[in-house]
Amino acid sequence: MLKPKVLEAINNQINAEYYSAFLYLSMSAYFYNKGLPGFANWMYIQYQEELTHGNKFFAYIHERGCKAEIKAIEQVETGFENILEVWEKVLAHEQKVTALINNIMDIAIKESDHATISFLKWFVDEQVEEEANVTEVLDTLKLINGQGNGLFMLDREMRQRTFVDQTQAAE
Ligand code: FEO
Repeated sequence: MLKPKVLEAINNQINAEYYSAFLYLSMSAYFYNKGLPGFANWMYIQYQEELTHGNKFFAYIHERGCKAEIKAIEQVETGFENILEVWEKVLAHEQKVTALINNIMDIAIKESDHATISFLKWFVDEQVEEEANVTEVLDTLKLINGQGNGLFMLDREMRQRTFVDQTQAAE
């Protein structure tokens, strides 16, 4: 069984992961509408990844003999100013998620919940990767000024991304 504070934090994280999924689905729609199918593909795969993150927390709660509480997902942003703004928002959002994961880790440490500490390590590593990936795209976008041939090439590159369920690959 999970201690109440750990359970509450993980339940909140399920909601945060599904919120992330919806946010990226909304960004995917923005890019499809802008005529950037590669960016849209990247965001759609990110949406799928976030669902698997939420599912991983969901499964863990039940593995530990508790019950997940499914709460309403807050409305995500649907209107964006420009391409760069979207990616800046992705980075800011991932930094926020990293802080949330670190907070759960702090709670698990305080509660001496070694199993949860071990479980959370996957997410700690995942956040490092997510922030690095987004920073790379953001840096490239700034280099090419978010337009022209560079943008076309970057969009083509992002079309190559395919979905792999990392939560399963890691087990
Ligand atoms: Fe599930 Fe992008 O953090």
